[in-house]
Order: sequence, then C-alpha cells, then structure tokens
Amino acid sequence: MSKALDYLTRSRPEAMGHYFRFLKEAGSRLDPKTRSLISVITKVHARTERGLVQYAKRALADGATPAEILDAMLMAFPALGLTKIVWAVDVLLEAKIPGFTLDEHGAAPAWHRVAGLSDIEEGGAARVQCDGKALFVHRDGLEISVYDSHCPHEHTDIPLQALDGRQLKCPKHGWTFDLASGRCVGGGDRPLRRYPVRTDEGAIYAEW
Ligand code: FES
Repeated sequence: MSKALDYLTRSRPEAMGHYFRFLKEAGSRLDPKTRSLISVITKVHARTERGLVQYAKRALADGATPAEILDAMLMAFPALGLTKIVWAVDVLLEAKIPGFTLDEHGAAPAWHRVAGLSDIEEGGAARVQCDGKALFVHRDGLEISVYDSHCPHEHTDIPLQALDGRQLKCPKHGWTFDLASGRCVGGGDRPLRRYPVRTDEGAIYAEW
C-alpha cells in the first residue's frame, strides 16, 4: 500500500473501509487473471510504476502470459494512448519481468531440455538452470512438475536452500509451496508459475 493510502486508512478508517469494500465487491465476479489484467491497465493509466510491476507479476502468477499482458494494454489503447503504453513497456523491461526482455520478445514458446529423468530422485525435487531460467523440478513417479524459481509474491528468486523435501519456503516473507501441486500452502494465496512438461527418451522437457 502506498504511504498516502496508509495515511488515509489510518486517519479516515470508516470512509476508506467503504472504499476498499467497494473495490473488492466490484471485482468479485471476475476470475483472478482478468482482475490482474484490469489492474495492470489502471496502473498504466495512472502511471504508477510500483503498482504496474506488482500487478504485472501478479497477472503472470494468476496464469496470464506476457503476450496477454501486452494485448490487454494494447486493447486499452484508446484510453491509454501510445505514450503511456511505451512508458509501461519500458518499466516492464527495466524491471526484468519474465517474458519482457528484448531476447524473449516475440519468440514462440519452445521446448527446453530441463534435466534427465534420472537426475531427479524419485519423490524428490531439484533446482536446475536451463537456458537462462532457474527452475524447480519435482518428480513423483511419472508425474513431473516444473516451476519457475521466482516467488509469486514479490518475485524473489527462491534459492536451493529453501527446498525441504517437497516443500519450498520463500526466504523473504515465508510463503510456502507444495511442489507436487505448486499450490501455496502457507503464508500466501498464489501458486508457483508452472510450465507445461513432457518427457522423451529419459529426459524432461518444459515449454516456455
Ligand atoms: S517474496 Fe516470497 S514470500 Fe514474499
């Protein structure tokens, strides 16, 4: 929350309570991804850099792709105009939001060899580097899951030391994730970003 909102909430708790209830109710019939994309547009419109980065990360965590974030901003072109959209893309590039790098832009999703099946212990997990990405890979029999190493809360790159069995605990604020499902099971409410997976000839591939 910004300092100004914090101040207003303390000095006018009742009025601000109505305001926050109104916002919550206004989005209650939309799915989380749609809510996040609309929030991205409002932050671009208001040119709120911190808010834009926060909601772009949240949109990704809620299942939006970088291309959908871009589409959402471009669809709002009549309201935003080119100057604000260019500003927003600059902010997203500067913040290194996944999918917003000059290298990745426009690239069609591709399959990447993440690890050999035998590299991941049965029932275990590992942190691997693959083509510039850090990933957590979990194996449960034939069920393989691959996740981005970044926390969906504030994008912390979660280190190997955070791994404890099939649980991953982000060192920054303690959100805890179950690597079999990617769900947040403690501290927060958003899952890890998960990639499509396939196996082929003893190797694990993920698509991004
Ligand atoms: S950044 Fe991971 S819990 Fe806050």
